[in-house]
Amino acid sequence: MLILAIESSCDETAAAVVADGRRVLSIQIASQVELHARYGGVVPEIASRAHLEAIVPIVEAALSEANVSLDQLDAVAVTRGPGLIGCLLVGVEFAKSIAATQRIPLIAVQHVAGHLYSPFIGRETDAWGVSVDQPADFHPYIGLAISGGHSSIVLVEEPLRHVTLGETLDDAVGEAYDKIAKLIGLGYPGGPIVDRIASRGNPQAFKFPRPLLNRRDSHDFSFSGLKTAFAREVEKLGGREVIEASEQLTADLCASFQAAAVHVLVEKARRALKAHHPMFHLAITGGVACNRGLRAFLQTFPRKYKIAFPDPEYCTDNAAMIAGAAFHIHQANVSAPLTLNASSRLDITAAPSVWNQ
Ligand code: KG4
Ligand code: ZN
Repeated sequence: MLILAIESSCDETAAAVVADGRRVLSIQIASQVELHARYGGVVPEIASRAHLEAIVPIVEAALSEANVSLDQLDAVAVTRGPGLIGCLLVGVEFAKSIAATQRIPLIAVQHVAGHLYSPFIGRETDAWGVSVDQPADFHPYIGLAISGGHSSIVLVEEPLRHVTLGETLDDAVGEAYDKIAKLIGLGYPGGPIVDRIASRGNPQAFKFPRPLLNRRDSHDFSFSGLKTAFAREVEKLGGREVIEASEQLTADLCASFQAAAVHVLVEKARRALKAHHPMFHLAITGGVACNRGLRAFLQTFPRKYKIAFPDPEYCTDNAAMIAGAAFHIHQANVSAPLTLNASSRLDITAAPSVWNQ
């Protein structure tokens, strides 16, 4: 069962071919990072235009890397939402044209559901350590979807059945990383840069708040207050120029910010697991799941927990996770009409049949 998927919800044009929902045969990504870097964030109009330019070569590259031709495909999948509407449209329209010309089912996938499925895909083994030739069932599990657009804790009861336990009340964690990096002139996207510099700093140099950690009854996040506390500290220290002139100060600020962000993420994950005891499976997904500080911290989790950390290429936006999730929608005999519209908001807790209306 071969599915070609297209993902264009934000600033990566991505295509991939996945066999039987598990084996990644190809994964191609055209990143627009350089186009947006000088603005310090994604500019929607620039992003949609770049998707238009990249989509044909990226789909061709994905088919060619997988050594698969269009007429061998069993279905074509696409991210329908949430995301930037002009960006999503490029992928949705292109997928519709493939479905129509090849006469194969069109399958719409919710983007965050794709992230939460990413632990199950791989070239040889998945992030649970299971061969992709074997069935893997780690449901139910607690999934963290942490990226530039989302910060949610989700109970994944079975493939593509989601209960949102908590989400961010303001900024996503990756967004906070990107904003504080911009504030001290570190470049875009800030997450990986802050992560790298943090390893050289003292995580206790500055005491940043751990937002909502004292709310024991809530699985929600809030990262805007942490970002503001960081900005205030930068002001107190004399402003951006002073920070830029000192490598040590930069490293200490990054390390202290990262310590606060990672502490909140790990502690909230631990509480969600405890609240659903007996629950021993945890999956960390989305761009921020690449974070080395977070990965190191989770090594200290008790051994009774099985934690899936997808490879970085499956953590950041990609189409292989979309193709994998689409397999289960196809198995349930659900597909979308050729009149499908992109949707900037799409509820992860709705049934996949609703995503496909
Ligand atoms: O999943 P993704 O590619 O796109 C969204 O759906 O948003 O995630 C991108 C986000 C950016 O905010 C980026 O700064 C962040 O993930 N990110 C990181 C790291 N690598 C990427 N944040 C912290 N540490 C990292 N190593
Ligand atoms: Zn994403």
